[in-house]
Amino acid sequence: MAEPVRPRRVLVRGGRVVEPSGPRRADVLVEDGTIVAVEATIAAPPGATVLDASGCVVGPGLVDLHTHLREPGREDAETVETGARAAALGGYTAVVAMPNTEPATDSAGAVRALQVLGARACVEVAIAGAITVGRAGERLAPFAEMAGLGVRLFTDDGRGVQHAGLMRRALEYARPLGIVLAEHCEDEELAAGGSMHEGAWSSRLGIPGQPAIAEEAMVERDIGLVRLTGAPLHLLHLSCARSVALVRAARAEGLPVTAEATPHHMSLTDAELAGYDPVFKVNPPLRPGADLAAVRAGVLDGTIDAVATDHAPHPPESKEEPFDLAPPGMTGLETAFAVAYGALCCDASTGVPPWLAGSDPAQRRASIAELFAAMSGAPARIAGLDVASGQGGALRPGARAHLCVVDLDARWTVDPAASASRSRNTPFAGRELVGRVRHTVCAGEPVVVDGKAVR
Ligand code: DOR
Repeated sequence: MAEPVRPRRVLVRGGRVVEPSGPRRADVLVEDGTIVAVEATIAAPPGATVLDASGCVVGPGLVDLHTHLREPGREDAETVETGARAAALGGYTAVVAMPNTEPATDSAGAVRALQVLGARACVEVAIAGAITVGRAGERLAPFAEMAGLGVRLFTDDGRGVQHAGLMRRALEYARPLGIVLAEHCEDEELAAGGSMHEGAWSSRLGIPGQPAIAEEAMVERDIGLVRLTGAPLHLLHLSCARSVALVRAARAEGLPVTAEATPHHMSLTDAELAGYDPVFKVNPPLRPGADLAAVRAGVLDGTIDAVATDHAPHPPESKEEPFDLAPPGMTGLETAFAVAYGALCCDASTGVPPWLAGSDPAQRRASIAELFAAMSGAPARIAGLDVASGQGGALRPGARAHLCVVDLDARWTVDPAASASRSRNTPFAGRELVGRVRHTVCAGEPVVVDGKAVR
């Protein structure tokens, strides 16, 4: 007689499960990809894989709305496989792959090819489609055929849609399809090729800058277009105080606008560029401290729904070019949780990280539940992955088992050479961070165990 098939069981033991009211001591038992019990003490069933979560919080797997995986076209910088592994090490169980690949993800064929690659990756890879063909800003991409394959977010990220009339039409087409457009807010005429924020530091360094209005003007324009069309819009990587204020007012009006901010835009200022190191070159650029404080305040009051990485790997030879020629972008998947934890949650009692710029002791601190909401629940909802694959939900019996285990007391120093990404362009190299991912479980499968990728 054939052996009965045993369910695949994983027990996450000894941790504190993240709850809105505060972390609660509980073990989590997973069976065949589903959480079956969350209780104070669960005895390990025979054959279960036991993951030690003592001293750690156990939260829903993180969801990144903004990951550049570079495949196809720039596999020297990243691949779906290596980017997914970096994501898993950062506690992510799902990422949204940006469409600025070569060629761009602007057709059903391109989406299908990526879905095949994504299906082999160690975390869920959702695909974002381009708004315009080739991201050239001229003709709309075929939304319906990509939406038919499950694509929910569309963006020309890396560029904003420059023509207001085309963006209006894109929103009008998007609405009945139930898809969400995501804008990279940058008016190219106003940005005029600037390589950093235009302000005191750009004057001192003699680097051409791009003014904050290059972002703010497009935020304002697009909010007006949402008011006109009623279509939902997500605003990518907001970096300026005024952008946050515009979104706050739009939300108060009841407009369907969501927004994200990156860990680097809430922790590093334009003063980092003093050494002319292209690792700090990023788009939108690092801003002065007042903008950082406004971005953090935006996350804290819910104006900014999500923390997203904008993980933008670039190979060493391109980041070693002269400052004006080097491409913008920073890796971020493996450091995002710790950087956001430092910027949003840490205070005098936990120790504010010394590298954190513009820290305000009066700033309210986020709870761990709020941090997980911004890095898991909200991005899952915006990307539609809550419904599609059970990402970002509370850890309860019956839920899909996407979770991560984080040691909030662990201090570690960022070593670019140890990254799972193919690229090394982290701005946090050599800095000490607090908070380290110990385990990641995606759809019931451990993909990171004791800080090591196992798939
Ligand atoms: O700095 C950036 N790098 N900003 C973007 O919008 C695109 C990204 C990239 O793809 O390298």
